[in-house]
Amino acid sequence: MRQAMAEAEVGDDYYAEDPTVNRLQEEAAQRLGFEAALFVPSGTMGNEIAIRLLTEPGQEVLADERSHVVQYELSGMAALSGVAPHVVVTEDGRLTPDHVRRALKPPALNRAQVGLVVLENTHNLAGGVVSSARETAETIAACREAGLNVHIDGARVWNAAVAEGVAPRELLKGADTAMVTFSKGLCAPVGSMLLCSARLYPRARRVRQQLGGGLRQAGILAAAGLVGLHTMVHRLVEDHDNAQVLARRLALAPRVRVLPARTNIVVGRMEQDRAPEVAAALALRGVLASAMDASTLRLVTHHDVSRADCERAADALAAVLA
Ligand SMILES: Cc1ncc(COP(=O)(O)O)c(C=O)c1O
Repeated sequence: MRQAMAEAEVGDDYYAEDPTVNRLQEEAAQRLGFEAALFVPSGTMGNEIAIRLLTEPGQEVLADERSHVVQYELSGMAALSGVAPHVVVTEDGRLTPDHVRRALKPPALNRAQVGLVVLENTHNLAGGVVSSARETAETIAACREAGLNVHIDGARVWNAAVAEGVAPRELLKGADTAMVTFSKGLCAPVGSMLLCSARLYPRARRVRQQLGGGLRQAGILAAAGLVGLHTMVHRLVEDHDNAQVLARRLALAPRVRVLPARTNIVVGRMEQDRAPEVAAALALRGVLASAMDASTLRLVTHHDVSRADCERAADALAAVLA
């Protein structure tokens, strides 16, 4: 990947003249089933551009309470688009047609209306939960019935696709926009993609520029995205298998509830608020885990941790939690 970055053919992407960025955009759009794709520096920026494109100030954005757009984008939707989150408590991060229908309000003059629904697949905080193509299609159909726009935060859509055994485009079908990330399981250092229609693309470009996301010789980054797309997807199954090693061992610990792990994220809920203390103790043993809050510990597997590393991490977990 470093080699490909060093050798990338570049141009000025401000003028849409970077051949490597253009290649990645075209390939992503074509593979993922959208008319257009816009390279963005981060997944957060991709999500926030989508929210701007698909809402009007004063509207609400329906999303699961644990979703990235609600929890980890510093209220960007309010600050950048003038919209408020309408959060729904779901069982495991998946928004169903029922959640959508129940969130609709009578069209009273003094009630803010939902304009956009954001789905997250896989769902990070819920433990890498996968929504199937059928579930996604049903929820999108309910949104359409109610005249709502849909954005899919597909930062880890390739993990979802591998787990489901389907092409990623099947999991994004029918959405107005989607965001996918090269800098997670696909191992690129930087880079995400906003997928949209040809109609939305020029505005998406302008909003990206306004947010400071217009880049120049960005081909060095897009080259990493291409390597990720071409060489990293098929191996994600190894990350999923390694996550099972961690999940099984974590499940043996007392007073920890492990959320079902199907992809590369393992989330354990600790009965006592021990997550920061456990994460600190693991760090001393050379295992980096995140305390997402006082009671939630998250472990993520990826290309740079082998099965042997995960077994050592599982031993460390068992020792710390004993
Ligand atoms: C589901 C989800 N969406 C979006 C993002 C944001 O991506 P980035 O870190 O590139 O801004 C993340 C990052 O962890 C994520 O987990």
